[in-house]
Amino acid sequence: MRKPVMAGNWKMYKNPSETAAFFSSFNALVAQASHCEIVICPPFVNVPTAVDATKGSNVEIGAQNLYWVKEGAFTGEVSAPMIQATGAQWVIIGHSERRQYFGETDESVYKKTVAALEAGLKPIVCVGELLSQRESGATAEVLKGQFTGGLAPLTPEQFAKVVIAYEPVWAIGTGKTATPEIAADAHIVLRGAVREKFGDAAADAVRILYGGSVKPDNVKSLMAKPDIDGVLVGGASLDPKGFSNIVNFL
Ligand code: 13P
Repeated sequence: MRKPVMAGNWKMYKNPSETAAFFSSFNALVAQASHCEIVICPPFVNVPTAVDATKGSNVEIGAQNLYWVKEGAFTGEVSAPMIQATGAQWVIIGHSERRQYFGETDESVYKKTVAALEAGLKPIVCVGELLSQRESGATAEVLKGQFTGGLAPLTPEQFAKVVIAYEPVWAIGTGKTATPEIAADAHIVLRGAVREKFGDAAADAVRILYGGSVKPDNVKSLMAKPDIDGVLVGGASLDPKGFSNIVNFL
């Protein structure tokens, strides 16, 4: 009953012409996929090209970040209403690379999520533990802390529109996928935190995606876990054929 979200995070890859070329083959490869929502998040400069290239298709476009102020003297930043005005519908918030390299915190995640929702964008909010935190047995505590700081302050109405992505930092870009069991355990922790704060209906409805070295050959076993409601894919979303194989995992 939770419709999977199969999302691609292109990170800092592709220019506008490479973006157009991707969709000229990708759209047809996923045109029959009605079992899931399909989202591609290119770099900002490619968002208008991606929106144009997916008009009339079942593929939706998102950004990878935003700033929470609507407009102003904030050189280099892009606001939620600006993203919404391009026709993009989604935005990734609090990716571990933004936490690690650009100083994002649970507090900024919360502010960005509110800003996205106010502009009518659908946020994909990322959480996940470092290798050192997993090795010291702190995974559940870290995930609950990120939920408490970034998502729990939302109203129930706001929370209902959020998608969560669990991305263990040690599995991102390393080729080390979390086993389906490890991923599912983390999803169960997160769903439990949602249940405690927002109740049964919210916990049963929220979609929790897995991200970290998802590939065409491991997506099926991950998606077989009842608590995994989709994937957020980095490297393997850059190739139209490969990502279409992930989307069409059934
Ligand atoms: P990879 O799929 O390249 O490991 O990246 C995962 C990720 O960070 C998606 O947001």
